[in-house]
Amino acid sequence: MNAKQERLEELYKKHRNNPHSPLIVDHNPRIIFGEGSADATVMFVGEAPGRDEDIQGRPFVGRSGQLLNKTLEKCGIARPDVFITNIVKTRPINNRTPNEQETARSLPVLLEQIDIIKPTIICTLGACAAAALLQKPISITKLHGYAIPFGNCILVPTYHPAYILRDPNSYQYFLADIEFAIQMAKKAQKQTIV
Ligand code: URA
Repeated sequence: MNAKQERLEELYKKHRNNPHSPLIVDHNPRIIFGEGSADATVMFVGEAPGRDEDIQGRPFVGRSGQLLNKTLEKCGIARPDVFITNIVKTRPINNRTPNEQETARSLPVLLEQIDIIKPTIICTLGACAAAALLQKPISITKLHGYAIPFGNCILVPTYHPAYILRDPNSYQYFLADIEFAIQMAKKAQKQTIV
C-alpha cells in the first residue's frame, strides 16, 4: 500500500468506526467512499450512490456505470486507472437528488479525497456534482466541456450518464467532454515527465 492509499484508508476508517460521523444517516445505507487508483490523474465525481451501488458497495455499477465504463474504454483509459466517487457517500432515501444538508455533510470527505489523490482533472457528472464543488448553481447545458480552475486542478463538468441514457442524442457531448478531460490529464502528465 502506498502513502496515498494509506491516507485514504485512514480517512475511511475514521468514518466507518465512528457512530457520530456526519456520513452516518438514519436509514442506514452503506457508506460508499469510491474506488480506483489513489494515484489517478482523473477523478470522476457523481451525485450519490443508487440502488445497485448500495447493494454492491461500489460507485457507478448500475446502468449509468456501464455507460461510464464504455465511455472510458472508448477514451483509451481503464476504469481502475481513474478514481470514481460521488459527492454524497450514501444512497438517499428513494434515490432522490441529495438535499443541501446531505451534500454539506459529505462534501468535506470528498475534499479530503481530492487533497490526498491530487488529481489533475476532476470530471463532474451532472449539475449536482458541479454545483456542490463550485458552490453555486450551474447550468450543465451551458457549462459542460469547459475547463474551470479548481484549487490546484481543473474541473471539467459534463452530463450525468443517467441523463444520457434518457437522451442518447446527447452522448456525443458526454463523450467529447470526457475525451477532453482525459486528454488534458495525459498532456499534463507528459509535461511533468519531460
Ligand atoms: N449515479 C451516481 O451519481 N452515482 C453512482 O454511483 C451511481 C449512479
